[in-house]
Amino acid sequence: MPIRNRFAEMHEEIAGWRRHLHAHPELMFDVHETAAFVTERLKEFGITDITEGIGQTGVVAVIEGKTNTSDRVIGLRADMDALPIEEITGLDYASSVPGKMHACGHDGHTSMLLGAAKYLSEKRNFDGKVVLIFQPAEEGGGGGKVMCDDGLMDRWGVQEVYGMHNAPGVPVGQFATRPGPLMASADQFEIVVTGKGGHAAEPHNAIDTNLAAAHVLIALQSIAARNTDPLKQIVVSVCGMRSDNDSFNVIPHTVSLRGTVRTLDKGVRDMAEERVTQIALHTAEAYGATADVNYERGYPITINHDDNAGFASDAAEAVVGPENVERNVPPIMPAEDFSYMLEERPGAYMFIGNGDSAQCHHPAYNFDDEAIPVGCSWFAEIVERRMPAA
Ligand code: NI
Repeated sequence: MPIRNRFAEMHEEIAGWRRHLHAHPELMFDVHETAAFVTERLKEFGITDITEGIGQTGVVAVIEGKTNTSDRVIGLRADMDALPIEEITGLDYASSVPGKMHACGHDGHTSMLLGAAKYLSEKRNFDGKVVLIFQPAEEGGGGGKVMCDDGLMDRWGVQEVYGMHNAPGVPVGQFATRPGPLMASADQFEIVVTGKGGHAAEPHNAIDTNLAAAHVLIALQSIAARNTDPLKQIVVSVCGMRSDNDSFNVIPHTVSLRGTVRTLDKGVRDMAEERVTQIALHTAEAYGATADVNYERGYPITINHDDNAGFASDAAEAVVGPENVERNVPPIMPAEDFSYMLEERPGAYMFIGNGDSAQCHHPAYNFDDEAIPVGCSWFAEIVERRMPAA
């Protein structure tokens, strides 16, 4: 079934929700107004099984099909949070909050799931249950994990779970995903190198912390170049380098290096953690300095389950035709906390085309409302195809 006529009828209404959310962005777990807006809409649709406050400010709602003989339960997830960015789009519905902006299209994801919820609650043309998952704090807060830690999957009996993210550069009306790793893990580290500060003209009486830290920084690149199987992917980026002195004539006492490690392979991830630590400790030591390493694991690798990725692509093909679905797109190195949900249940994450827009996290980014009926239809197709009416 292609884009459902009902979504064409609802297009303006859903775009209206999207623009309202766009004008009122909230960050991290502080999505109280957004969650209230979501809950209000769900109640308007006649949905009664709504639970707020899961994962602090997440919302979970249940829609039952006309029948429930299948005992199947599918979770559909959207993220609700915005970013600390000053918007420059000049849109008439641009952010009304200084320094906050829906620059990643989560306003679009939330609205599309609301649109699907309205349709599914009207038609109930399926046999089973749909669990709608509206999550906070995707942008660095791990809201997906916090919802899972609150018992999301067990409490609502979710058996499989699907989510999607808009993709700038992919034409509107197209989808892309792949079986296996789709997005990278994201770990972060801080290395504090301590030498012995002193007079720049008398380095022999000091231990040059900058020199030691610079060698640590360079040596970290050997993890990608020399320690990783060339056919596997990794990024090690040192992003912050700061010393306790920025004069022209003082050797600093401490220098901190901050960075991130991204990879698509669990073994490579373990290896990189070990190597970052060993390289920092021993390289610093070679220059007479010491290193303290704080390595923190962040979002896991987003790994689509093979069968579910195939099914998600089938559903997309039903909506937009096989010529508009890339079933084996190359993975990308940004991270996504839907990964935590995929660690608990089978499922898949899908990219939906956002056309020729600015990139996500750019102050000129905007979600393309033309994608709304496409995304809503995919959510509906997932449900009606997986749990056909008895
Ligand atoms: Ni995002």
